[in-house]
Amino acid sequence: MAIQGEEGILISQTEPGRGAEASQPGLRFDLAQAVNALSSSLDLVGQQHAFHMRRVAVMALAVAHALDWPQERQRDALYAGLIHDCGISSETEFNDVATSVECANPDPHCQRGAAYLADCLPLKRFAPIVAHHHTPWKHLCRNNELEEPTRLLTNLVLLADRADVLHSRMHLSGRREWEVIGRELTQYAGGLFAKELVDCFRELAENEVFWLRLLPEYVETVHYDFEIPDDFVTHAFAETQSLAHLFARLVDAKSAFTGEHSLGVGRLSASLGQRVGLSVAMCHQLEIAGLLHDIGKLRVPMEVIDKPGKLSADERRLVKRHSYDSFRILAPVFPGTQIARWAALHHERIDGTGYPFGLKESSLDQGARIIAVADILQALAQTRPYRPAFSQADILTMLKEMAGKRQIDAAIVAHVAGDFPALYALAIGAEGRG
Ligand SMILES: [Fe+2]
Ligand SMILES: [Fe+2]
Ligand SMILES: [Fe+2]
Repeated sequence: MAIQGEEGILISQTEPGRGAEASQPGLRFDLAQAVNALSSSLDLVGQQHAFHMRRVAVMALAVAHALDWPQERQRDALYAGLIHDCGISSETEFNDVATSVECANPDPHCQRGAAYLADCLPLKRFAPIVAHHHTPWKHLCRNNELEEPTRLLTNLVLLADRADVLHSRMHLSGRREWEVIGRELTQYAGGLFAKELVDCFRELAENEVFWLRLLPEYVETVHYDFEIPDDFVTHAFAETQSLAHLFARLVDAKSAFTGEHSLGVGRLSASLGQRVGLSVAMCHQLEIAGLLHDIGKLRVPMEVIDKPGKLSADERRLVKRHSYDSFRILAPVFPGTQIARWAALHHERIDGTGYPFGLKESSLDQGARIIAVADILQALAQTRPYRPAFSQADILTMLKEMAGKRQIDAAIVAHVAGDFPALYALAIGAEGRG
């Protein structure tokens, strides 16, 4: 079955509990697309340096390819480049590490990024690489905790990173770029960078295409130039969950006020799915959709998200696009599942007054209805910049009123009312704390 939103976009719909994944353990997702989505989402934080991580990834991949590294390691060079600065939290922090070839205090963003990745099972192997992506080669080559191939890969990220810093600071074009950048980087061969990497980089960079790939119009589609092995596999649910947690942490880190929101909506959605009788596989998908429903908010400027007063019409429009952005970010990562679709529908209402599709009752399945209720319940339980948190009694009254007006599903609200203290505890993350 397919549903059509107001914008004419077709979204495939599988009846809850009957999806292709219903009997499969774990979840099939595309790690390459996930890393891509992570990189694009992080790119939105520092607009001034847009595509930095992508350019680093493209240069690292070109060198890894020229050195004839095994395909999996070439792919890792791409991934490492795409996420190496995931610990950078602000434009100011980026500027601090982008002033010269040798930067003064890179440690905080290396450690923060490594800590994020260490908790994410599918990307855990990149934690030491990110931790050391500013460590000079002369120290790194003596680091016995890392194996030789990993040391070289880590140093390759540093080389590409510094090349991009020089490149964006010089605003040069054509062959002069290479002359200036090549001269600068060669000075550091054996000290900051491994000599074999600098040599390979120099040779490649004399070729025009090396720079053409870095143009904004091409940097996102590097897979046309290199054969990257497929990375679309089934991951255990715990792995998918830890990847979704990483994304959720990034969204929640954007604002102290939305902190824990994604985690709460994930827990609530899974629990409500279970209570209405959805299969374990569908409950897993609901949890991931709940964790990721607001990923599109990374596009909304921080000052708008944290604004204490009323939003202007333009600001409101900026905020309202986030559920569609979530859909577009998640669709390529989780094809063949309901995750992107359920995340996209969390602001839909069964009377048709929701957004962005304005779907009505018949197009909203149980998953979509559950995530809408979970989102409202969790938001009401939290303090927001413009209001304090509501009491448990008020939350229940408001949910019942909305169900009475046929905005949200009365049967799901009845499940909430039937075990409210437990669901409230899940919403605020207090379960098991008494
Ligand atoms: Fe960095
Ligand atoms: Fe960087
Ligand atoms: Fe939302």
